[in-house]
Amino acid sequence: MTDEIWDSFLPIEYKVLSPYQWTPIEIIRFTWEYLKTQSVSSVMDLGSGVGKFCLNLVQFANGSFPVYGVEDRKGLVDVSEKLRQKLKITGVTFTHSDFLVNFPYGHSHYYVFNPLYEIMKGEHSIDFKKEKSAMVFIKNLQILKNHLSHCKKGTKLITYHGFGGSVLPGYKIVKQKELEFGDWMVWEKE
Ligand SMILES: C[S@@+](CC[C@H](N)C(=O)[O-])C[C@H]1O[C@@H](n2cnc3c(N)ncnc32)[C@H](O)[C@@H]1O
Repeated sequence: MTDEIWDSFLPIEYKVLSPYQWTPIEIIRFTWEYLKTQSVSSVMDLGSGVGKFCLNLVQFANGSFPVYGVEDRKGLVDVSEKLRQKLKITGVTFTHSDFLVNFPYGHSHYYVFNPLYEIMKGEHSIDFKKEKSAMVFIKNLQILKNHLSHCKKGTKLITYHGFGGSVLPGYKIVKQKELEFGDWMVWEKE
């Protein structure tokens, strides 16, 4: 699978956003290489977009563990679910929800591709439904950090282009790699 092929399954308005908003296949493969060395009960993508990370990870993992995605834009959840059905992929569940409001606790591994940053940035936005505001960004980042601080010891957070901040109270960095497309890191709850 290549990004070109996978992205060609997307509606045009989401395909053009791929280099900026959806995880490249190479990063998903790299994440799988890490996860296969781990004891994984489930993986949750916080802000799953069009489902690119979840749908490709579950295929790399070949059903070794369940994969979940939560996304607050209903249109993107619908695209993810349609693709899941079209590609006949099982072992992945998409939920329409705001993870800041209903944080999905209980997973061994979480993944984020900087989901809060869209509040800060005008370019390559998915849409203009969310207010751009540094104040809202700071507030949301604090809410996310607070949720993550309530995850149990040993929980891992995998970040691609970060989670929005540089300090994550209660977590230590256990892996860090500068990849061609961006920084990839693993944080562990102490
Ligand atoms: C940069 S995209 C990454 C998409 C996907 N994880 C991937 O790697 O391909 C971030 C996604 O997070 C979603 N998002 C941002 N804030 C969210 C929230 N509070 N709850 C649920 N989804 C959110 C956005 O709508 C967007 O689809």
